[in-house]
Amino acid sequence: MKQELIIVLDFGGQYNQLIARRVRDMNVYCEVLSYKTPLEELVARKPKGIILTGGPNSVYDPESPHYDKALFDTDIPVLGICYGSQLMAYTLGGRVESAKVSEYGKTEIDVDKTGRLLKDVQERTIGWMSHTDYIAEPPEGFRITASTPVCPVAAMEDAEHAHYAVQFHPEVTHTVEGNKMLRSFVYDVCGCTGDWKMDDFVEKTIEDIRAKVGGGKALCALSGGVDSSVAAVLMSKAIGKQLTCVFVDHGLLRKNEADEVDKVFGPEGPYDLNFVHVDAHERFYEKLAGVTEPEKKRKIIGEEFIRVFEEEAKKIGAVDYLVQGTIYPDVIESGLGKSATIKSHHNVGGLPDYVDFKGIIEPLRMLFKDEVRRAGLELGIPENLVFRQPFPGPGLGIRIIGDITPEKVRMVQDADLIYREEIAKAGLDKDINQYFAALTNVRSVGVMGDFRTYDYAIALRAVKTSDFMTAGSAEIPWDVLKKITTRIVNEVDNVNRVFYDITSKPPGTIEFE
Ligand code: XMP
Repeated sequence: MKQELIIVLDFGGQYNQLIARRVRDMNVYCEVLSYKTPLEELVARKPKGIILTGGPNSVYDPESPHYDKALFDTDIPVLGICYGSQLMAYTLGGRVESAKVSEYGKTEIDVDKTGRLLKDVQERTIGWMSHTDYIAEPPEGFRITASTPVCPVAAMEDAEHAHYAVQFHPEVTHTVEGNKMLRSFVYDVCGCTGDWKMDDFVEKTIEDIRAKVGGGKALCALSGGVDSSVAAVLMSKAIGKQLTCVFVDHGLLRKNEADEVDKVFGPEGPYDLNFVHVDAHERFYEKLAGVTEPEKKRKIIGEEFIRVFEEEAKKIGAVDYLVQGTIYPDVIESGLGKSATIKSHHNVGGLPDYVDFKGIIEPLRMLFKDEVRRAGLELGIPENLVFRQPFPGPGLGIRIIGDITPEKVRMVQDADLIYREEIAKAGLDKDINQYFAALTNVRSVGVMGDFRTYDYAIALRAVKTSDFMTAGSAEIPWDVLKKITTRIVNEVDNVNRVFYDITSKPPGTIEFE
C-alpha cells in the first residue's frame, strides 16, 4: 500500500502522539518514530515531511537529544515544534538562549502573514507556549514570521529550503488556529493530497496481525469496553478461530455488566468467536483485602488478570500471544515515554514484569479514543457498543477509595446504576463522555427518619472530553442531580450523602485512583 507519509520525530514531549493524530485527522498517514532512528531509515521511508517534536531538554545540555544535521540537507520539508524549533535553530547556526522566566500557557502572538506556514491565520492569534529556552536569533536564510512580547522568534521559516519552526504547540486545541498551521505544512509545504482513511488503518493492521501471528494462537483480554471490543473484533477478522476471547469477571464490574458482555460476545451474540467467561471475583477480593494504596491496587488487579489469562491459556494450550485493547492515552499516562507516571493503567504499566506469553499484541496502541471508535464503526461493530462510555480495566477497584470489600462494591454498583438510569432518562447520556459513581472513603453523620446514621458518601463524576487527556466537568441540571441524590440515599443501603465532583482534568484525573 503506497501512501503519503509524515514522520513525527519524537524528542520526548508530552503531545507527540497528538501531533500524529492531528495529521491523521487531515487524512494523511503519520507515524511517530524515536529521534534515535537513523537518517537513512527516515529517508528510505520517503516521507513527504518530518515534524520535530517538543521535549523537556535544552539544546545546550550535552545529554539532550540532537539529530543528524544532514537532515536539513535533504529536500524533505521539516517543521520544528518547541524543542524541535530550538534544535533546528541551533543545528543550523542560530542562537538559542535560556530566559529568566518560562513562558507558559495561552499567549497572544503577532503574526507576519506573508510567511508560508502562517498565511491562513489572524494577524494576532493565540498560541500555547510551554518553554524556558527560546530562539534569540534565527539561522541565516530564515525570517521571523511571529513573535510575542517576550519571545522574539515565536515562528521562523526558510521557505526556500522548506524549513519551518514554531515555538508554540499547534497540535493542542489551546492554539486556536493550530490546525490551520499544521494543514499549511502538510498540504501546502509537503504537497500531501490526503490519501489515508481509517479503513486503511484497519486493513493494514489486519495484515500486520496476520503476519505476526502466522499459524499461532492468541488470547484476547476482553472486558466488554470499547477498546477491548474493537481489539477483539479486529483480531478475529485477522485470525478467526485462532483467537480466544477471555472475559474475566473480577467482581469489580458495573451492575449487570457481565450479563451484557455475555449477550454480545457469547454464543448468542452476533460474532463467531471462541469466548470464555471466567468468574474470578473471589480470588480478586482475596488479593485486594486490606489494600488501600491506589497504585498497589492497580498492580494487584493487573497481575491477577494476567495470572487468570495464563491459566486460561494453559487450558487452551500453545497460546503465543496476549491481545490487549491498550490505547494511546493509557500508554502515555503509564509513563512509558519520558513523561512522569500518573497512573499505571492496568493494561500497560500495571503488567507484572514476567508475562508467560511469547508476545503482547496491542493493535490500538497508537490510537486515541475517538479514533478507536472510528475503527470500530469501520469494522461494523454496532453503534451502541462503539459509543459506550469507557470503563477502566481495574473497574470499580479504582472507584472505591481505600480498601475494597464486597459490601463497598455493592454500594457503588447500586449507586452507579441509579446514576446511569437517571442520566439516560434526562437524555444526557449522549452529551456526557464519561460518568460514574465512586465510593469516597468518607463516612459522615446523617439522619434518616428518627435515627442517626453514620454512613458512606458517594461521589458522582461526569466529564466532557474528546480525547480523555484533558476534561471538563459536565454541567448536569440541578434538578437531575437532586433526583439522583435522593434516589441514591433512599435506595442504596449504607449511603447517606452524595457529592458532585466539578474538578477538571488537569488538575484532577477522570477516575479517582
Ligand atoms: P484518568 O483517570 O487517567 O482516565 O484521567 C483517563 C481515561 O482512562 C480510563 N482509565 C483506564 N482505562 N485501564 C483502562 O483501560 C486503566 O487502568 C485505566 N485507568 C483509567 C478512564 O476511565 C478514562 O476514560
